Amino acid sequence: AAGAAAVPGTAVLGRGGRAWADVTAPPPFSVPLSLPEVAVPVRRTATTDYYDMTIRHGAAEILPGVSTPIMGYEGRFPGPTIRAEAGRRVVVRQTNAMMHETVVHLHGGLVAPGQDGHPADSIAPGAYREYVYDNRQPSATLWYHDHSHHMEAEMVFRGLAGFYLVGDRRERRLGLPSGRYDVPLMLRDARFDEQGRLLFEMDDFRYRNTLLVNGRPQPYMKVDGRKYRLRLLNGSNERYFTLRLGEGDGDAMTVIASDGGLLPAPVTATSITLSPAERVDVVVDFSRYRPGTRVVLHNADGTDEATTGVMRFDVGHRVPDLSRVPERLGHARDLGEAVVTRDIEMKLDLSIGAFVIDGKTFDMDRVDTKIKRGETEIWRVHNRDVRPSVPHNFHVHGTHFQVLDRNGQPVTGHEAGRKDTVAVPIGGDVRLKVRFDRYLGRYLYHCHLLDHSSMGMMAQAEVIG
Ligand code: C2O
Ligand code: CU
Repeated sequence: AAGAAAVPGTAVLGRGGRAWADVTAPPPFSVPLSLPEVAVPVRRTATTDYYDMTIRHGAAEILPGVSTPIMGYEGRFPGPTIRAEAGRRVVVRQTNAMMHETVVHLHGGLVAPGQDGHPADSIAPGAYREYVYDNRQPSATLWYHDHSHHMEAEMVFRGLAGFYLVGDRRERRLGLPSGRYDVPLMLRDARFDEQGRLLFEMDDFRYRNTLLVNGRPQPYMKVDGRKYRLRLLNGSNERYFTLRLGEGDGDAMTVIASDGGLLPAPVTATSITLSPAERVDVVVDFSRYRPGTRVVLHNADGTDEATTGVMRFDVGHRVPDLSRVPERLGHARDLGEAVVTRDIEMKLDLSIGAFVIDGKTFDMDRVDTKIKRGETEIWRVHNRDVRPSVPHNFHVHGTHFQVLDRNGQPVTGHEAGRKDTVAVPIGGDVRLKVRFDRYLGRYLYHCHLLDHSSMGMMAQAEVIG
């Protein structure tokens, strides 16, 4: 952009004729939202959809007028959205065209251990791996992302993440907003250097002060005056979002789904907290606003203009709307009587400068917990980091758990649905009912503040027969 005016967000020619850049984020809500492209199968059979993806270095226009080097599935930031159908198999051939090893994890997928993206199963540069996903699970908002040994924080930060949406017949019969009124929104933060390059430093969350939605900084979206389904994913490494729509205490959002899929019944919320990797699907009826209204999705955890405004919805004219939110949505049966209770401790171990679970950093050759297939256990997960206070959350691969309580208080709203990731309060605990019903083998559990997991806060369970 030689000769361009010194507008924030554009590269300019600086003093002495040397190119330098002055890249900052644009003003809030000045950039249109974009939607990740939907992946197209290369082949379809009666039972299976086949996809080919290349994992590569690429460039993305994240800040307007600036080309940012990224790592991306298909070179995209974020990666293409895979739309799967429950009961139909998806096979994704992932070719690694990068100089680094990578491995792809389907977050929230109830898949066999060998398909789950264990860091031991990495794809060498130049090699490929075929992931087989059976999709034997109800409709849900999942995502896929890198899970490289000690590297997931940096590689996800640089772009290796995309949506994976499971649909099913039951859900379609409900009449929820669909098609272009079903919008995936990947929320995250980022940090850029003066040249607009993503700047990754381990655990420097205080400096990641640019908010992105689907890879655009604090975008706006034009919406019709009708109902939308918004699939909100916190794709940040470490940032929590407390989301409120509109001004003041927040306008009502109808929560219909959590990590594991549809809630038994819709619940109304004015404020929703998402720790990293959590998802919530909400239905928002924009017909309740006058055309021309601008409705900001706020982050109540933000500290300034750059971190409080997530995105803005610019409401247009009312349009006919046949969608609805029925009184009954999905099911979530109780996971039954527990036969084993365990305590799991998450802690920053200052003596070794590492994040640990039960006193140990991750070792992929060690099994930390054995759990019998089909047996329900209660896991009480503690966050021992009071001084210094460090937030943690807890993610389990290969299953969806039931959250019983946090600090003894029953959880409500989306947290009462099936989950795979849950916030663990500082100095407190969360109790989960966990059961693995399907495959034998090893599944990871870890903190999903990815800088913590990359620094060791990860362990594995072996499901035994
Ligand atoms: Cu989303 Cu083990 O991760
Ligand atoms: Cu953590």
